[in-house]
Amino acid sequence: MSVRTILTLGDPRLRLKGLPVDSFGKYLHELLDDLAHTMRDAPGVGLAAPQIGEAVNACVVEVESRLFELVNPRIVKSTGEDRDLEGCLSIPGFAAYVTRRERVWVVAQDRRGKRFKVSGTGLLSRAFQHELDHLDGKLYIDYLDSMDELIAVPESDEAAEGGATDAEDEGKVRTPALA
Ligand code: NI
Repeated sequence: MSVRTILTLGDPRLRLKGLPVDSFGKYLHELLDDLAHTMRDAPGVGLAAPQIGEAVNACVVEVESRLFELVNPRIVKSTGEDRDLEGCLSIPGFAAYVTRRERVWVVAQDRRGKRFKVSGTGLLSRAFQHELDHLDGKLYIDYLDSMDELIAVPESDEAAEGGATDAEDEGKVRTPALA
């Protein structure tokens, strides 16, 4: 298991669609392990394979200590709307308000290929939608009318050093959960 480099905005690999997974062996297991390890190191609440340069239809989401490994995921149902601040590990230092579905139901396969269904609301729902977008080569900034909507936020190192108060003084906002 290793911490991989997270690609950032401008890297064309972020725009590649994840190829469907049809082999549930060592390569996939190592990829999922690396995704979880890299997500926790960042730290973030989700990470998709294209963000570490693998055009594969797999991602991880972890909210409130519940880790989800999603292989070939798709949203089968969604309800409501929720507008909140959203950030991305591939776009460090910024966040923006994005309208998402309030609740989604996702059908996916686990690392052994077994199908399961999971639903989530709030941050979990947002993280599912954000990661599934990554698997489609899509970033949250694609929903913005203008890049002027981006809000500068402290990067995680600054936040860890208690920089949040300073950041507020500078008119910045607290860093939202990143995925
Ligand atoms: Ni992201």
